[in-house]
Amino acid sequence: MKIVSTKDGSHTVIHDVLGEHYHSIHGAMQESQHVFIKEGLERHKDKSKVKVFEMGFGTGLNALLSCEYAEKNHVKVEYYTIEAYPLDVEQARQLNYPKLVGSKEMFNNIHDAVWEECIKLSANFQLMKIKGLLESTDLSFIPKIDVVFYDAFAPNSQAHLWEPPVLEKMYTLLNSGGHLATYCAKGQFKRNLKAVGFEVEGVPGPPGKREMTLGFKP
Ligand SMILES: C[S@@+](CC[C@H](N)C(=O)[O-])C[C@H]1O[C@@H](n2cnc3c(N)ncnc32)[C@H](O)[C@@H]1O
Repeated sequence: MKIVSTKDGSHTVIHDVLGEHYHSIHGAMQESQHVFIKEGLERHKDKSKVKVFEMGFGTGLNALLSCEYAEKNHVKVEYYTIEAYPLDVEQARQLNYPKLVGSKEMFNNIHDAVWEECIKLSANFQLMKIKGLLESTDLSFIPKIDVVFYDAFAPNSQAHLWEPPVLEKMYTLLNSGGHLATYCAKGQFKRNLKAVGFEVEGVPGPPGKREMTLGFKP
């Protein structure tokens, strides 16, 4: 894995085998903030407690931003995240995110958190990291979720993760009134979301991307 800088100065990682960036090269931090905090968490700002499920823990950037959001807004965030191929923790420590948001201590605690355990990392933020493949891991023990951060690699490298069987799993995880947020705006993906029951809305994307997608569970 190679760490590189993106246009807003925040780091991202390039996957060894797939050659894919973990975030937008136009700005990793800006992308996560827009797609998952603004169009994810903030859409549930009327609630005092929000349950999140993230597809692809990766660098831990979305978890760090969610923790920061929870503390700033005094909202309880219960954060579940799955990852099949965890980054090396020493490499993760080299990422510059805690220089830009949150604290080094919190970022390290997120990466050091034991897998498969619910851990309270701050007054308002609780984390559970699950190690496994999204498509084959039993997620039925997770309580109903308010927002899914769908952050898989793009359909051209991992097509099966954008198809109905996996999307149906996300639909089942969600509360009625909950939603899925993702950077992807491909037509076939939006048709797949509709096919499993989501109400689909395209909204403006982060810098460098005209549109992103939200899928609401009625
Ligand atoms: C676009 S990156 C996610 C970036 C991450 N949310 C972050 O903020 O760094 C996609 C992530 O999904 C993980 N992944 C790929 N295939 C997976 C699968 N089938 N099940 C679970 N995780 C998977 C990758 O290892 C990678 O960490």
